[in-house]
Amino acid sequence: MAAISLTNVNQVFGSGTAQVQALTDVNFAAATGTLSLVMGPSGSGKSTFLSIAGGLLTPTIGEVTVDGKKYSGRSKKGA
Ligand SMILES: Nc1ncnc2c1ncn2[C@@H]1O[C@H](COP(=O)(O)OP(=O)(O)OP(=O)(O)O)[C@@H](O)[C@H]1O
Ligand SMILES: [Mg+2]
Repeated sequence: MAAISLTNVNQVFGSGTAQVQALTDVNFAAATGTLSLVMGPSGSGKSTFLSIAGGLLTPTIGEVTVDGKKYSGRSKKGA
């Protein structure tokens, strides 16, 4: 089981003419004890990806799981 996984994650900022699609259908899984590098040019979505993977940002669309549990289903107490 992946320690952290993102499934079909999309992130949209803003609306109308100011709308930015920061992430499009991102799929990622990291196993426990492994090292992952996030690389890409400026503006490619690295910080957005890390904010979502770290639970600081809820994706516009898609699912994030930690140890098989959905972030959206977790309480602030971590239960
Ligand atoms: N809060 C926000 N509001 C509007 N647009 C945003 C916001 N955060 C990021 N973006 C846009 O989303 C896209 C991805 O930005 P992000 O900061 O994730 O890229 P990055 O790969 O971390 O870039 P850098 O290498 O410069 O740090 C960019 O087009 C950026 O302008
Ligand atoms: Mg960044």
